[in-house]
Amino acid sequence: MKPDQNTVSFTLNGELKTFATEPDEKLLALLRREGYRGTKFGCGQGTCGACTVIVDGRAVYGCLLYAKQAEGRSVRTIESAGTFEEPAEFQKELIAAGAVQCGYCIPGMVMSATALMETETVFEDEIVREYMDGNLCRCTGYEKIWIALRKVLDRRAAGKPVPEPHGHKH
Ligand code: FES
Ligand code: FES
Repeated sequence: MKPDQNTVSFTLNGELKTFATEPDEKLLALLRREGYRGTKFGCGQGTCGACTVIVDGRAVYGCLLYAKQAEGRSVRTIESAGTFEEPAEFQKELIAAGAVQCGYCIPGMVMSATALMETETVFEDEIVREYMDGNLCRCTGYEKIWIALRKVLDRRAAGKPVPEPHGHKH
């Protein structure tokens, strides 16, 4: 069936969805309008990475992509990464490292790191920087974010299991 001019259909966090849209609407605007507000609006011009989502396995800026360009694709947002009760591994390490200040950059960071971990098998600093370069943080100075990410990546590289969350009760 030919896609309707005023709708877009794509898999969003594993579920096939159809949304009304306009030809000039950006994917970020559609997502936030539809309640996926974990994906942040920062600069709106492809600089800060706050709007990072994963489209067909690649981290992209949702503020640059037209919603229509997502037609037939797989889109994943931060809502697919972890929940408040059950955060993703990197989210847990960010909290443990005290790496979250205002937190605005964090969803985008998590999505870029997710793409990295799903795509690469070795995590040399240079490769990690390539994936994370497009995500800016104006609060932390990056050091604690880097420490948290390195912990996750080093654990993966060593094939070690994910530790229980801090404060987990047995
Ligand atoms: S809001 Fe998209 S890169 Fe800044
Ligand atoms: S924690 Fe505030 S922008 Fe990163």
